[in-house]
Amino acid sequence: MVSSVAGPRPSTLRFAATPVAPTAADQRATLLADPGFGRVFSDHMALASWTAEQGWHDDGVRGLEPMTLHPAAAVLHYAQEIFEGLKAYRQPDGSVALFRPDLNAARFAHSARRLSLPELPADAFLAAVTELVRLDAAWVPEPPATLYLRPFTVATEAFLGVRPADEARFGVLASPAGPYFSGREVGLTLWIDPTLSRAAPGGTGDAKCGGNYAAGLAAQGVARAHECDQVLFLDAVEHRWLEESGTMNVLLVTAAGELVTPPLGTILDGVTRRSLLEMATDHGLTPVERPVAVDELREGARSGAITEVFAAGTAAVISPIVRFREPAGEFAVGDGTPGPRTLALRGELVDLQFGRIPDPRGWRVPVA
Ligand code: COI
Repeated sequence: MVSSVAGPRPSTLRFAATPVAPTAADQRATLLADPGFGRVFSDHMALASWTAEQGWHDDGVRGLEPMTLHPAAAVLHYAQEIFEGLKAYRQPDGSVALFRPDLNAARFAHSARRLSLPELPADAFLAAVTELVRLDAAWVPEPPATLYLRPFTVATEAFLGVRPADEARFGVLASPAGPYFSGREVGLTLWIDPTLSRAAPGGTGDAKCGGNYAAGLAAQGVARAHECDQVLFLDAVEHRWLEESGTMNVLLVTAAGELVTPPLGTILDGVTRRSLLEMATDHGLTPVERPVAVDELREGARSGAITEVFAAGTAAVISPIVRFREPAGEFAVGDGTPGPRTLALRGELVDLQFGRIPDPRGWRVPVA
């Protein structure tokens, strides 16, 4: 039997461009002036197909158009799907750079293995993203907006049995984007959900798959009902340990000078999370990955042992969290406004991404 999951072979995929007529410049300028998040799309998309027999083929960057799927496509029934999120940043000289896209390529391959989808070689992932940004460079907005890139793979085989699909499609969308949270300047309020979990040990919590986000929507709804911006998930076993927020990792600053974040396992290995841990010492903070109990968060916020809390993710960047709500009541962090360490880390991160300061770690990757 032919294995339905391709190995990580070096790729021959080049994602050659077949350009279509671009959107008129004045119409594009109007869209770029206030794009919001995830609603506006550029002129093109990257695409490739995969079958168990042929492997990856039919790659290219072509005009954005609807995808045709058989109603029995496995993704529609069994959620065999993965995705990524990264951004293209306009640099001061007008060029365009990505931020650590190699980490997204590696995580995409990890997610593919977990969801029994074909693994796209890292060089093909980078080629797809790069060729799309080059062709649609005019869609990269001025800071602080960015061109959000959404690579994905979906199982397209029309088959209702439960097994890894023998056909899949890969794509990359490009979407000019403003801030993910409109209220992030004043700080977010998070709902600590006591019952609804996002992920369990041995599950898919460390993969970036649509199912994780679908499973989180109910808790997000409860959060909204309590007038919170997002939910803070606790672990699925004891409902006691901090995991991640709906679309972001969570980090805490302690009075002892630590930058603390829950360990990997059932949470996503965020590129922003990882970058902040590597930047911490330059900010006089000791990076610490360890379990954090919700009691420690509550007591620490009250006693001052925890001085700041923030969320980190590609879409959300760094969003201060200033208040938590839970069934028993609510508590603020610090004085209820964004803290200085949070703002300093965010300042350095976005300056790095937008090319406003030197990049000694080589995290910026010029593409256009
Ligand atoms: C990202 O930060 O790129 C994410 O994946 C969040 C997204 C689900 C909105």
